[in-house]
Amino acid sequence: MAHLDAYNRPISYLRISVTDRCNLRCIYCMPPEGVPWRPHEEILRYEEIETIVRAAAEIGISKIRLTGGEPLVRPGIVELVRMLARIPGIDDLAMTTNGILLADYADELAAAGLRRVNVSLDTLRPERFHAITRLGRLEDVLAGMEAARRAGLTPVKINTVVMRGMNDDEVVELARKTMEEGWNLRFIELMPVGNGVLAEGGWRERVVTAREIRGRVEAALGKLEPAKKAAGSGPARCYRLPGARGTLGFITPVSEHFCYHCNRLRLTADGQLRPCLLSDLEVDLRTPLRNGAGVADIKHLLLHGIAVKPLEHHLDRLQKPEKRVMSEIGG
Ligand code: 5AD
Ligand code: SF4
Repeated sequence: MAHLDAYNRPISYLRISVTDRCNLRCIYCMPPEGVPWRPHEEILRYEEIETIVRAAAEIGISKIRLTGGEPLVRPGIVELVRMLARIPGIDDLAMTTNGILLADYADELAAAGLRRVNVSLDTLRPERFHAITRLGRLEDVLAGMEAARRAGLTPVKINTVVMRGMNDDEVVELARKTMEEGWNLRFIELMPVGNGVLAEGGWRERVVTAREIRGRVEAALGKLEPAKKAAGSGPARCYRLPGARGTLGFITPVSEHFCYHCNRLRLTADGQLRPCLLSDLEVDLRTPLRNGAGVADIKHLLLHGIAVKPLEHHLDRLQKPEKRVMSEIGG
């Protein structure tokens, strides 16, 4: 059974950033030159992550998501998936990726025990994709999505961050993909949390709320009907367009709190447990691990992290994490 935090929320989900490195430089996340990477010795080794996940499973955490940075740039990532997939009590093992390397890895990841992937994709236009990610090619991501589907890493979910003046003119086209191609797509409101240009001064003007997106989509494509949540859709509200095979969701960190249902903890690549994405509160797991802590000790530290998990964030008052950049926390 999942443990309850101080506000009676069952904590069943751990997101693990396996690296702070990334092969893209998305404009909302990083400056063009990137951010300084953490030295290798600060990054948790796979055995250390395994110990943490064993401890997590023993206190009722059943769902793990691997994130980054970009998880597929870390050497040996398939081996980590294999290590985690065989831990008793972990019944959902997923990954969030930018998709660039996914076509190369999809089969191996599925064979190693990964269940499914979420792919970040903010535009359907090749030049614009390059403008937003600074380094990437759209065709690689589309190939990655297709490979994931064929490998059975399903449902493949697409995450789209909407930014006014950047890609908000594509929301209808993107939503149409849920009808024409059965995509499961979620629009995400832009948060002021990265180290990129859009996370600075002009953030608020760039936010397009779920309400506005929904209005535009419904005007063009018909009324959204509430849909059953796809596996592990977390804070997304899920809908379906008329006749659509795929679902359309909204993740609303800015316009609507979902903190009251938050079931997650986060682990940074350098081994700090973060009970909340948007609070700088952290519990150090790496130092104890390197001083010989085992599963039982880590269990206690995880329970401490659960006990001190904050009730809510205040993005609306522009309180943002100071100590870290988004690519270290893993979104
Ligand atoms: N606002 C909203 N979503 C963001 N992501 C990264 N930075 C931001 C931001 N500032 C998303 C990525 C990816 C997920 C891990 O987090 O696009 O889908
Ligand atoms: Fe990399 Fe994700 Fe940041 Fe883009 S948003 S630069 S894919 S970590």
